[in-house]
Amino acid sequence: MKKTLLIATLVCLISLSFAFQQTQVKYENLKVLPKNTTKKEMDSIMRHFSMSLGVRCNFCHVRGNDAQRTMNFASDSSKNKIVARNMFKMMNKINKKYFKPDDDDNRNLANNANRIPQVSCYSCHHGKEHPENKPPAPTGPPPAGGAPASGERKP
Ligand code: HEC
Ligand code: HEC
Repeated sequence: MKKTLLIATLVCLISLSFAFQQTQVKYENLKVLPKNTTKKEMDSIMRHFSMSLGVRCNFCHVRGNDAQRTMNFASDSSKNKIVARNMFKMMNKINKKYFKPDDDDNRNLANNANRIPQVSCYSCHHGKEHPENKPPAPTGPPPAGGAPASGERKP
C-alpha cells in the first residue's frame, strides 16, 4: 500500500515537472527577439524564417558535440544565424521607420507578438536563400503602353 502511494506521488511529480518545463522554456541566447518569447512564438517565428528562405533549421543552426549530435539552437557558430540576426534588425528598422507600427491603424498588429511584420523575411526572399534583384529578361512583345521596343522612340 505504501509502495503504491509512493509510486503515485512520483508519477504525479514527474508529470508536474513536465508541465512546468513546457510552459517555462528559457532561451539562452536571444539578442534580437524578446527574452520572454514563448515556445509557441518561437516555433512560429522560426517556421517563418525557414519557410521564407526555403531552408531547414540546420541552415542557421549547428549540431552539438554530444553523442546524439542534438541541435544546439543557442550556439552562434553558424554564419547564417548571424546574418539572419542582422536581417531581423534591418527588417525592424524598415518597419519602424516606413510602416509605423505605432500608428493607430497598425496598433493592433504591433501589439501582437505573433504578427508577421509589415515587411517580412518573405517579402524579399520569397522562399529563396538569395533574393532575386533583377527582373526576368523580357520575353515577347512589351506590355501595351509600356517601354518602347528597342530602336523605337516615343515622341
Ligand atoms: C534563417 C535562419 C534561421 C533558421 C532557418 C532557423 N533559425 Fe532558429 N534562430 C535564428 C536566429 C537568428 C536566432 C537567434 C534570435 C535572437 O538572437 O534573438 C534563433 C534562435 C532559435 C532558438 C532559441 C535558442 C536559444 O536558446 O537562444 C531556437 C529554439 C530556434 N532558433 C529553433 C529553430 C528551429 C526549430 C528551426 C527550424 C524550424 C529554426 N530555428 C530555424 C535563425 C534561424
Ligand atoms: C529588404 C529585403 C530583405 C529582407 C526583408 C530580408 N532579407 Fe535576407 N537577404 C536579402 C538579400 C538581398 C540577401 C542576399 C545578400 C547577398 O547576396 O550577399 C539576403 C541574404 C540573407 C541570408 C544569407 C543567405 C546566404 O545563403 O548567404 C540570410 C540567412 C537571410 N538573408 C535571412 C533573412 C531573414 C531571417 C530575414 C527576416 C528576418 C530576412 N533575411 C529578410 C534581403 C532581405
